Amino acid sequence: LCPDVGLRVALPDLDAFRARLDRSLHPDAAAVAAEVDRLCLHVCFKVAAEYGLPRTATPFMLEPLCRRLGIVREAEYVVGIVLETLQEEGFPHMPPPDELPRLCAKARERFGDEPFIRLVERCAGGVRAFLVGERRGWDVVFPRGDLELWADLHHRSAVMSAFSKAAALAVDALVPDGGEILEFGAGTGAGTAAFLDRVDGRPIERYLFTDVSDTFLRRARRRFGDRPFVDYARFDLEGDDDLGLDLQVDVAVGVNALHVARSLPAAVDRLRRMVRPGGWIVAAEGSPPAPGRSWRPNVLFGFLEGWWNVETDPAFRSAPGFLLLEAWEALFRHSGLTDVAALPIEQSGRRLGGVVVGRAHGGVR
Ligand SMILES: C[S@@+](CC[C@H](N)C(=O)[O-])C[C@H]1O[C@@H](n2cnc3c(N)ncnc32)[C@H](O)[C@@H]1O
Repeated sequence: LCPDVGLRVALPDLDAFRARLDRSLHPDAAAVAAEVDRLCLHVCFKVAAEYGLPRTATPFMLEPLCRRLGIVREAEYVVGIVLETLQEEGFPHMPPPDELPRLCAKARERFGDEPFIRLVERCAGGVRAFLVGERRGWDVVFPRGDLELWADLHHRSAVMSAFSKAAALAVDALVPDGGEILEFGAGTGAGTAAFLDRVDGRPIERYLFTDVSDTFLRRARRRFGDRPFVDYARFDLEGDDDLGLDLQVDVAVGVNALHVARSLPAAVDRLRRMVRPGGWIVAAEGSPPAPGRSWRPNVLFGFLEGWWNVETDPAFRSAPGFLLLEAWEALFRHSGLTDVAALPIEQSGRRLGGVVVGRAHGGVR
């Protein structure tokens, strides 16, 4: 079976779509991803050196090791990532402890004010306080509730902006004129902004901006208030929210949002019931660069409990964080979606993530 069959159902003009997707990528996307990987490795060195993590430690010994070192439960995932990363890298020689600030400065010389570099600096600066429980991980990433770096990361980062643009292209290709779209986990609105840019002038009946957090809904009302067809509602992928059960949209889309669900099968099932027969679920998601290789920024995103406190299962998600595209496809099929397909987002041979699509209730619109 041709692997493109599902994709060609969703996107008949697949080659043109692929070309648009490639063109939408920031020219430095893969280079920035590689640089961020390197910086994250140095965050791991910093933690290992400060805590004297033993070379022989494995993630299996995590809990007793953390208790012995006085590391709080909230930070155990990050310590586990440090050990996993050092193991994947074959326990390389540790550089001097002041190497990270120098590397960040050099990265900035090359890539300018890339928000991902600032996130590395922010997490590295707060990691000691986080590990010993002086600061919550949330407070390190969002100091005094500041969402600006988070917003910048999703809107402007050469790596992270790829996902909003890819989702916007896919939704534009799948939604009919006069159609209705629901965006879940819309957060700072990077996906919304990319979509509204993309479809400027096309007739869209309704774009329902949703998130579980009222803070993001308030920000979005200010930001997109001049678009009369954009509505706002609290929507929780886990259930218990303000949306009526009779809602039926043409496309439900999320940009790096679906993986936050504690139970992935339950979340996809919920979305499937909100999409009209023949409509689509679209998830643009980051992914590990290859099977057996972890996503290095786990060490940063692991500061947030929502990143790691999720249900794992061997079939779809063996560990917290981003999934491989193959796992998303398996999950979508398992959830009863049809015409399931995943289009990788890649540059210079480096996989950044992908857009996964699946059709609800089978059938043709
Ligand atoms: C990584 S962010 C997505 C980024 C988003 N595309 C943006 O532009 O900011 C994940 C989003 O999912 C939301 N979220 C977390 N748990 C959720 C849940 N159970 N249901 C719906 N949204 C959730 C968060 O508030 C956050 O905005």
